[in-house]
Amino acid sequence: MVPIQWGNVLPRLRVSRVIDHDVVIIGGGLAGSRAALEIVRTNPRLSVALVAKTHPIRSHSVAAQGGIAATLKNVDEADSWEAHAFDTVKGSDYLADQDAVEILTREAPDVVIDLEHMGVLFSRLPDGRIAQRAFGGHSHNRTCYAADKTGHAILHELICNLMRYGVKVYDEWYVMQLILEEGQAKGVVMYHLLDGQIEVIRAKAVMFATGGYGRVFNTTSNDFASTGDGLAMTAIAGLPLEDMEFVQFHPTGLYPVGVLISEAVRGEGAYLINSEGQRFMENYAPSRMELAPRDITSRAIAREIRAGRGIHPDGSAGGPFIYLDLRHMGQEKIMSRVPFCWEEAHRLLGIDAVHQPMPVRPTVHYSMGGIPVNTEGRVRSYGEALVDGFFAAGEAACVSVHGANRLGSNSLLECVVYGKRTGAAIAEFVENRKLPPLDASPYLQVARQQLQSLLDQAGQYRIAQVRQAYQDCMTEHCGVFRQESVMREGLAKLKQIQQQYAQIRLDDSGKLWNTEIIEALELKYLMIVGEIILTAALNRKESRGSHAREDYPDRDDLNFLQHTLAYYSPAGIDLTYRPVCITLFQPQERKY
Ligand code: FUM
Repeated sequence: MVPIQWGNVLPRLRVSRVIDHDVVIIGGGLAGSRAALEIVRTNPRLSVALVAKTHPIRSHSVAAQGGIAATLKNVDEADSWEAHAFDTVKGSDYLADQDAVEILTREAPDVVIDLEHMGVLFSRLPDGRIAQRAFGGHSHNRTCYAADKTGHAILHELICNLMRYGVKVYDEWYVMQLILEEGQAKGVVMYHLLDGQIEVIRAKAVMFATGGYGRVFNTTSNDFASTGDGLAMTAIAGLPLEDMEFVQFHPTGLYPVGVLISEAVRGEGAYLINSEGQRFMENYAPSRMELAPRDITSRAIAREIRAGRGIHPDGSAGGPFIYLDLRHMGQEKIMSRVPFCWEEAHRLLGIDAVHQPMPVRPTVHYSMGGIPVNTEGRVRSYGEALVDGFFAAGEAACVSVHGANRLGSNSLLECVVYGKRTGAAIAEFVENRKLPPLDASPYLQVARQQLQSLLDQAGQYRIAQVRQAYQDCMTEHCGVFRQESVMREGLAKLKQIQQQYAQIRLDDSGKLWNTEIIEALELKYLMIVGEIILTAALNRKESRGSHAREDYPDRDDLNFLQHTLAYYSPAGIDLTYRPVCITLFQPQERKY
């Protein structure tokens, strides 16, 4: 294979070429595509670019299974947005910003009906209305669903709509850098996986909807693309990340692979069983049992396993997983409500869940923290100051509706409510604005050099080796349970692994479909995200939601009823805190 020389890939004459759009959105999942749709619905004359590192319909949103919460009251007339808001705030361990939660829950029914009108194939009640099921931490049956393929159903419909409106999709382009000059977002630098081309997009508004970072850890329900790129690029640009210590472990990752077995399975009645055959959730959350919020359920499973009541693959006690038992639900219900989960266990482990229990244990699932934004999706810099022209929504953002622990089926909702709101805010923002002045040459130059030096590096480590060491380090040192000495050790190890990164070598020096280049960039970004998670976790000396400190087992509202803001630089990470917005519900002890 002929080695890439970036000077050749991007001939000199094209060095200062810039692609112009009114708006550039990074990320083709639910938040990005819903925002794009809102922009073109509001003003079809706007030129909107959507850049995605996979094809948009392969964005991680497509893997969302269980549903989207909204108080449609189709099966429970006693439900209300206030009840949904309370459940969300209590689930968040009172760290959620309540003004943002109020918007989320009030606007939920309208956005779901809008999706229905677009053609999303929701599962139905016998009378034709959208069906709704139980979900963890929700006090009413309010989760709307399309069997256990809800993300798939919604994302496909949104992408069809974007095609209809002529949104320009750059698929399999990897964004390498956010261009931020004098407090204004002006565009992005991007790399084409197909042929190694590097381009700059200039825009009046830039939106990040780049999803989460599950691949920081070695076992996750997230796809391979969930590498936190947008978060790291934001941090490198000198902007803060919020509440990064709050990492959600989903209770039921299929053992040993970690892929998601939807909470919908428990919503439809499945049991969690330990090696003694006991439904152990009665000891942890007697009023909610298997439908307690995820932080509580994941900790309960981890405790059962630690106490020797886990199960081994041969069925004996003391092993690394517990059982998710669906057998009493019967074949008809399993196959109509959660067919994909049945299929996953069958395809990956040869287990027929109609007749056999599934082995499960907690798996990293979701990032509660992210790029701090206000309720219009505008990115915050310091205090109340906003970054001109920079927006974010979805899992990459922190608005913060999930606080320290997200309730299942609130993330699709957040993507749609805040994707829509952010799209509307962008359409208004770009109206009557000119494209910002921008000299793209230095950005192209730096990107080209960065890639060339990766290729030229004759290091001793392969990317997969360093990535594995890093993911194992984060999993061991910043898991379901945390403590100071373990996290300090993790940070020290992380520094060593970061040094190994400087000695990686790429085996592929070609310019067509060089996935190693993307993997190398992703790994660099993953490591920045991990360092921020560990640092923020180390400094939050309390237990709240998903952040369970064994050395500080209690919630400490006096000192930590605040959001963490982490400012990254290669020299170190600075932390500040900002107050939580409390408008509806005063913090109480959290019991289920
Ligand atoms: O369990 C699930 O189906 C996941 C849903 C969610 O994370 O909201």
